[in-house]
Amino acid sequence: MEKIIVVAVSKNGVIGKGGTIPWHSKEDMQYFKSLTMGFPVVMGRKTFESLKKPLKGRLNIVISRNKELKYNYDEVKVFNDLTDAYNYCSDHEKVEKIFIIGGAEIYKQAIKTADVLSVSRMDFEAEGDVLFPELDWGKWEEETRIKYPDFSVVLYIRKRK
Ligand SMILES: NC(=O)c1ccc[n+]([C@@H]2O[C@H](COP(=O)([O-])OP(=O)(O)OC[C@H]3O[C@@H](n4cnc5c(N)ncnc54)[C@H](OP(=O)(O)O)[C@@H]3O)[C@@H](O)[C@H]2O)c1
Repeated sequence: MEKIIVVAVSKNGVIGKGGTIPWHSKEDMQYFKSLTMGFPVVMGRKTFESLKKPLKGRLNIVISRNKELKYNYDEVKVFNDLTDAYNYCSDHEKVEKIFIIGGAEIYKQAIKTADVLSVSRMDFEAEGDVLFPELDWGKWEEETRIKYPDFSVVLYIRKRK
């Protein structure tokens, strides 16, 4: 099962501000939707709560340390651990890929074992309080780069040793 990180990041590394994404890009939202549709999306509790409602057509997996946490939606599952979420997807959902969709806390942990990064590199700087975590780019190889009007989608594959 392929583990794919999806993120949109400004030129200065910002991904969030005050609990939301500090820009609105219709094209990037469309790209995100077509990429992830039909597959599980894994996210931190804060990111899920920023969405207001689950992403349609996808199993929404929320990671929280709160063992009592439940949401009243059939398409939402809560796990207390990222690895438990991965195991559930491979054993029960039997999907070929899952998408890790943020935020920073979850990216930081997921990067260690992710296979692919889909980075929407916005063409502008942004003010914000949440940054995409530092990572060793030497371990990643750029595979494709597609230019959109205000951003480029860059796909990186983990280098094989
Ligand atoms: N630009 C983008 O592509 C993008 C994508 C996604 C999100 N964002 C932005 O990123 C910001 C949110 O990011 P964030 O880093 O603050 O929060 P986050 O990663 O969305 O969620 C953090 C929460 O996840 C849970 N968690 C983290 N590690 C865990 C672990 N090892 N085990 C169990 N639970 C764990 C905890 O939930 P509990 O507190 O419930 O225990 C923690 O408070 C928002 O501004 C959002 O809009 C941007």
